[in-house]
Amino acid sequence: MEPLAPVRWHNNRLGLIDQRLLPIEERLMACSSAEETAQAIETMVVRGAPAIGCAAAFGLAVEAMRLAADQQLGWIERLQPGYARLRSCRPTAVNLAWALDHLWSLLPGMAPHEVPQQLLMAAQQILADDLASCRAMGQLGADQITQPSGRPLRILTHCNAGALATAGYGTALGVVRALRDQGRPIRVMATETRPLLQGARLTAWELVRDGIDTTLITDSMAGHFMSSGEVDVVIVGADRVAANGDVANKIGTYALAVLARHHAIPFMVVCPLSTIDRATAHGDAIPIEERAAVEVTHWAGLRRAAEGVQVRNPAFDVTPATLVSMLVTEKQVIFTPNEATIAALWTT
Ligand code: MRU
Repeated sequence: MEPLAPVRWHNNRLGLIDQRLLPIEERLMACSSAEETAQAIETMVVRGAPAIGCAAAFGLAVEAMRLAADQQLGWIERLQPGYARLRSCRPTAVNLAWALDHLWSLLPGMAPHEVPQQLLMAAQQILADDLASCRAMGQLGADQITQPSGRPLRILTHCNAGALATAGYGTALGVVRALRDQGRPIRVMATETRPLLQGARLTAWELVRDGIDTTLITDSMAGHFMSSGEVDVVIVGADRVAANGDVANKIGTYALAVLARHHAIPFMVVCPLSTIDRATAHGDAIPIEERAAVEVTHWAGLRRAAEGVQVRNPAFDVTPATLVSMLVTEKQVIFTPNEATIAALWTT
């Protein structure tokens, strides 16, 4: 099966697999400006922390191409509105700001006539690096997991931390793919992930497409399957990891971590270094995106909730570092995430 490339350079524009349409239809959407890219990120055409970082980097490059002829202003002034718009279109996943700030830091060193091309090359490098990181994390994570004897390893995952959420291959699902590539018998249980069903629509689609044994459950079934001994390890991705190791990830992750601890099941978080935000001291300081009520009250355009009811819709929650058994990065695996072990990722 062809590897998935959710973010790509295509016909001189940014091409995104429209994830809102999956698994019914696989269609590429083109973006030719920062505004079009920001709207695609806001509306979840592309989602998942590393993937939105990659998309935003290409969004800044296409904005430079769009503005190349307008030579009255310098590049910083021309690109500032697009940079700011992209940087604020989703608040929780730090990869978005990380990727844009990286390109922004390169701008002063670029020859003015080369800016569009150089930004494009920098975006392509971010994409290539993310793919390499996913493969490295997959290997490192898989090597930490003990195979039960005589039966498949049973993995529970939440949301979509797969190829679709990254440059390809995936973080949590990168570990799943590496286990499969090591020839280990595995079975994945995917939570459907209310309210937008990233698990049912995206994770299940990706894994079934790859021929991996996958079972879909609703979010509220996870405790039942953990208590009945049907889960060996929980593997999830992350949107932002604070300097002390607290993990923001898709809403519901915290509950899974508490359940995993209660049932003595290892809880593995897999994320590239670009997801670790050393400027945010702890999880309470991570901004949590609240999305529209309609995502909870409606499905497929039809209202399912009683009229007049109030709704809360935080898209992410924070899992304390103390509940994380393993934090897998492309550099190394950390077994006790805390300020010292996280800081050491940059000093050793
Ligand atoms: O709202 P989403 O779909 O962007 O949320 C995605 C997640 O929470 C993923 O688990 C996270 O970004 C890790 S992706 C490798």
